[in-house]
Amino acid sequence: MPSMLEVSELTHTYPGQQAHTAIGGVSFEVTAGQLTCIVGPSGCGKSTLLRCIASLVTPTAGQVRLRGQPVRGVPEDLAVVFQDYGRSLFPWMSVRGNVEFPLRSRSVPRARRRELALSTLERVGLSGAEDKYPWQLSGGMQQRVAIARALACEPALLLMDEPFASVDAQTRFELEDLLLRVRAEQDTTILLVTHDIDESVYLGDRVLVLSKSPATVLADVAVELGQQRDQISTRESELFVRLRGEIARTLRNAPQNRGEGDHDEAGEDEEPGEVDSSGEDRADEPALAGSDSTGSERGSTE
Ligand SMILES: Nc1ncnc2c1ncn2[C@@H]1O[C@H](COP(=O)(O)OP(=O)(O)O)[C@@H](O)[C@H]1O
Ligand SMILES: [Mg+2]
Repeated sequence: MPSMLEVSELTHTYPGQQAHTAIGGVSFEVTAGQLTCIVGPSGCGKSTLLRCIASLVTPTAGQVRLRGQPVRGVPEDLAVVFQDYGRSLFPWMSVRGNVEFPLRSRSVPRARRRELALSTLERVGLSGAEDKYPWQLSGGMQQRVAIARALACEPALLLMDEPFASVDAQTRFELEDLLLRVRAEQDTTILLVTHDIDESVYLGDRVLVLSKSPATVLADVAVELGQQRDQISTRESELFVRLRGEIARTLRNAPQNRGEGDHDEAGEDEEPGEVDSSGEDRADEPALAGSDSTGSERGSTE
């Protein structure tokens, strides 16, 4: 498989009086078509890492290569989906307008824009909602619009920053399955950040486990669960349970990684060890506890 993304010794220090090193030398490679999940504690530098890859932040050191070429400026064939769909969609534009917007700046002709927007909205289950406005939609539907907007650009690389963290559990499962489905159809390369260990295993072909800030790669875990995944049976499987335990233990046993300039500033520790605590607890729990009840509540509302 050809290399899509190469991140080499990436380091980022936010400047200022209390300079903070968010990423401390991260290296990894993503091959074309791979769905790589990045999991790490809250505040460890996951968003900073994605922003550096998207050229929204210039890293202090290291290099990012997309299809072998060093990234300078925001690449055209890269799309980003953020957690905060409420702020990422334009409220004054219709759903179709929002999806077409990035295509306009790429000079896609009007008829083709419309065609791409409508077909992508259909793929994410939003046929019939194209003339609505974002504020008329539920959170889950708004996030579908954000996903459609990213996919309509047919990006070579799709970056997703905790894309399902703001929706309820039921919607989250639906959106995870939507992502797996469109990924299989479009063969997109995806780099998805999450603080949820279970989500990283459910979605990923592979999980990169990051340490506390400044982030370094603690482990690179292959997820050989196959392409066909199911919210109930996959999460019940022996391999799934073993992998989530392995990742939780990696995070729990990691040495404290406090870089110079690091400090307990307000905000950083607001969600204390979200990954660590949930991972630890869940790893020791019976694996089926959550999956069963959620599974039985699920309807076929997709
Ligand atoms: N613009 C910024 N200026 C200074 N520090 C920042 C900035 N953005 C994030 N940080 C700090 O960098 C660290 C990593 O942040 P972030 O990448 O958002 O983490 P994560 O996405 O893993 O929660 C945190 O300690 C955060 O407070
Ligand atoms: Mg973040």
